[in-house]
Amino acid sequence: MICSILLLIILTSCVSGTLVVNVTQTSYQAEENHHITLEWTFTTNPHTSSNSLNIFCELLTDPRPSVLFHLHEGVEVPESQDEQFAGRVQWDKDVLREGRLRLHVSRLRTNDSGLYLCDVLTSYGSNSGRCWLNVTEREECRENQIPI
Ligand SMILES: *[C@@H]1O[C@H](CO)[C@@H](O)[C@H](O)[C@H]1NC(C)=O
Ligand SMILES: *[C@@H]1O[C@H](CO)[C@@H](O)[C@H](O)[C@H]1NC(C)=O
Ligand SMILES: *[C@@H]1O[C@H](CO)[C@@H](O)[C@H](O)[C@H]1NC(C)=O
Repeated sequence: MICSILLLIILTSCVSGTLVVNVTQTSYQAEENHHITLEWTFTTNPHTSSNSLNIFCELLTDPRPSVLFHLHEGVEVPESQDEQFAGRVQWDKDVLREGRLRLHVSRLRTNDSGLYLCDVLTSYGSNSGRCWLNVTEREECRENQIPI
């Protein structure tokens, strides 16, 4: 009994400190007014509760970054979000425990373009992942109808 407990402690301490954050796509392309889903995946640890999870995502713009999403100890902090993204970001709570952060950004603007960074901090480690988003202007009057 004691041996197996010791083994478990050794195993979990080996696992801790290795948190990987990946992006499912390194770059996204979208059109103005459309929506997009940005996705990050990260290592989960079944021994820790979801309220040890902290996530901070931002768009790295000059002169200061714009906050897209903030999760503090498993709880979303909407006050942290930059006005630029207010009311335009939704996330999938269900897949978070599987280590998937899916952020749906709607009504895209051209100035949403840039490098997005997500920091994931947990009791078993921290890391970050980044991806590019390129929002292009809508091409108006592209499909002119040919008069008969
Ligand atoms: C991250 O990507 C690597 C390489 O593709 C993969 O082996 C690993 O399982 C991924 N980890 C997560 C948490 O997505
Ligand atoms: C981004 O564009 C929108 C309109 O398309 C504008 O209202 C907003 O002020 C712009 N934001 C920045 C940071 O330039
Ligand atoms: C964004 O997309 C447009 C249209 O595909 C392309 O011409 C442009 O080079 C891209 N910009 C960046 C920064 O990737």
